[in-house]
Amino acid sequence: MTCSLGNIHLFSDFSPLIAHFFPGALLKVETFSRFSPSPLSIKQLLDFGSSNGCERTSFAFLRQELPVRFANILKEIDLLPDKLLSTPSVKLVKSWYIQSLMELVEFHQKSPDDQKVLHDFIETLIRVRNRHHDVVPTMAQGVIEYKDTFKVDPVTNQNIQYFLDRFYMSRISTRMLMNQHTLLFDNNAGSGHPRHIGSIDPCCDVVEVVNDAFESSKMLCDQYYLTSPELKLTEVNGKFPGEPINIVYVPSHLFHMLFELFKNSMRATVEFQEKSPSLSPVEVTVVLGHEDLAIKISDRGGGVPVRKIEQLFSYMYSTAPRPRMDDARQTPLAGFGYGLPISRLYAKYFQGDLNLYSIPGYGTDAIIYLKALSTDSIEKLPVFNKSACKHYQATSEADDWCVPSKDPKNLSRQSAAL
Ligand SMILES: Nc1ncnc2c1ncn2[C@@H]1O[C@H](COP(=O)(O)OP(=O)(O)O)[C@@H](O)[C@H]1O
Ligand SMILES: [Mg+2]
Repeated sequence: MTCSLGNIHLFSDFSPLIAHFFPGALLKVETFSRFSPSPLSIKQLLDFGSSNGCERTSFAFLRQELPVRFANILKEIDLLPDKLLSTPSVKLVKSWYIQSLMELVEFHQKSPDDQKVLHDFIETLIRVRNRHHDVVPTMAQGVIEYKDTFKVDPVTNQNIQYFLDRFYMSRISTRMLMNQHTLLFDNNAGSGHPRHIGSIDPCCDVVEVVNDAFESSKMLCDQYYLTSPELKLTEVNGKFPGEPINIVYVPSHLFHMLFELFKNSMRATVEFQEKSPSLSPVEVTVVLGHEDLAIKISDRGGGVPVRKIEQLFSYMYSTAPRPRMDDARQTPLAGFGYGLPISRLYAKYFQGDLNLYSIPGYGTDAIIYLKALSTDSIEKLPVFNKSACKHYQATSEADDWCVPSKDPKNLSRQSAAL
């Protein structure tokens, strides 16, 4: 599949260094990007770790699938505006992806029956994972540099948002696959929770994760504001009344989403209720239905003006002061503006969703929806194709709704002239 867009130079600015060390890189990216990624269900991911799943099957799948996912997203990186592509940060990210792709492709010539090959593969996965550790802040840095230097029009802004959603989703997926393989088959990896299969908990206690995330956020809030709201929790098991709510899920993903939403709710509550003698609690309702699990987080933090709602999921929007980049050890309560968009990606990754409903002047309800059945929890993955290409075409069509003028026409004078 090729994508011809007039002003786009496919792979024109490949770092010469990469081309030197990986002479066949361009060809490999082209080859693997012709395949569509193969989404797995949580159930399939679990099967790799079951008694009839085996390391060789997982190896054979990953040596093909990881290069396919890397190549698909590399093709999209190249559809970004030239000036963004030529920032040092984006060049660096791109070089990581190419290097990793090439290292993984090496395994196509090797036999899955050789123990040494399987061992080397695990080492390669760990190396790739470490190399990609800082992809999110590095890519974010590139976008900041670009936006600070050039005036970015709304269409380009939209394209960057579209790209980052897909890019970070692809990263969530490749990390998931690499983690599963290393956790399941690396004997040196510390034994995790005995019930977990890789990073998946077949019996994830949702309320327990809610409590953990709330406590972690509360600690930050107390540190920052010297006070924090309480938690009021209601659980309704609509499927098996009276029983605890369990789903097959990745607890670390659920924790991430809840932690981000709690930080937002706590910050809003403390700031909005600054003058009141006590703080309203953050109310959480966990409901298991037949197909869906919903977690609603309601706060009385004053909500968000309707005008700003659309910006909330933008990668560049935050009302908090930007935290210092160099202070990596301290987790900030807010400030990069990545909390909501990345949390929504985690929810969507297994076909869920995350929405915010705000009542300006009062408070906000955030709802996380997850699939209740592991067979419905299937990876949602970007694919590079013609439809994706179309999104990057910078056509700024005229608005088909009137733009109100700043000073409305004086109608009385107009009718008098007729
Ligand atoms: N529950 C909430 N109540 C009020 N405002 C909120 C709430 N959640 C998010 N927001 C607004 O959305 C912005 C973006 O949130 P987020 O993506 O988590 O980034 P950050 O918290 O780093 O600013 C916040 O800065 C805040 O202005
Ligand atoms: Mg936040």
